[in-house]
Amino acid sequence: MVYTRKNQRNLTGAERKAFVNAVLALKRSGEYDEFVRTHIEFYVPDGDDGLRVAHMAPSFLPWHRQFLLEFERALQKINPRVTVPYWDWTRDNTPASSLWSEDFMGGNGRRGDFQVMTGPFAYAHGQWEVSVNVTEGRFLTRDLGRPKDPITLPTAADVSQALADPVYDMAPWNSTCRSGFRNRIEGWTTATGNARFRTHNRVHRWVSGAMLGAASVNDPVFWLHHAYVDSLWSRWQAAHRTAKRYLPEVAPPKGDPQHGQVAALHDPMPPWDIEPAALLDHSRIYRYA
Ligand code: CU
Ligand code: CU
Repeated sequence: MVYTRKNQRNLTGAERKAFVNAVLALKRSGEYDEFVRTHIEFYVPDGDDGLRVAHMAPSFLPWHRQFLLEFERALQKINPRVTVPYWDWTRDNTPASSLWSEDFMGGNGRRGDFQVMTGPFAYAHGQWEVSVNVTEGRFLTRDLGRPKDPITLPTAADVSQALADPVYDMAPWNSTCRSGFRNRIEGWTTATGNARFRTHNRVHRWVSGAMLGAASVNDPVFWLHHAYVDSLWSRWQAAHRTAKRYLPEVAPPKGDPQHGQVAALHDPMPPWDIEPAALLDHSRIYRYA
């Protein structure tokens, strides 16, 4: 059965509750923290040597697609009706959005230490202790819009610009690519200040707190953000039916600085050893509404 991932703003109260409860159950069982660990392990920047599959690489999109599927399957073992909702941040682009309500993601962090004090993931409510982290912090933090150094969410125009690029990705297959859909969506630029981060990356900066960096999975909004990114990949494919759906098709040869560092179309991606080619079409698994 093909299931549907919905826009979070259209979920019923019961659907919101079911999603939150399944996430909390994964946290209790310790499985949630395994997802945090996996993301930290694969947070490899392109300055490092060796294979990088999750970020600053062509397989940013298929790697996170599989990561989302693994998470969704774990949720569905708890409640088969649950799917990962998506957050369209071009539309729900303020801290006043229902996304941040008490019965869903909870609100902004408080002043001073940015600790989230409301909702199911507030440390004080006893069900969400951050136990796998890259810092000492034990509680979820946010600083929505970062008022001291304000940053805005990406706009519909930013998304359209990325979707209009007819090429999936290009050499040198890292964070320095000036065009190509993958980096337009992943969002690295060589600019300075806020302009350094666009689209996907900019959303992590806007939420701030736990959403910055390797342990960003500690904020459950991570999944809603990445579901929207995944939906944009689907839209890009639909808009460019004759384009190569994934690049590179073959691995960069010996002598190429990216040799051994990026996953080509048929290279297995750790930790699941699934190739990007197996993740190009999700239409038999789920759809976006
Ligand atoms: Cu990631
Ligand atoms: Cu991300």
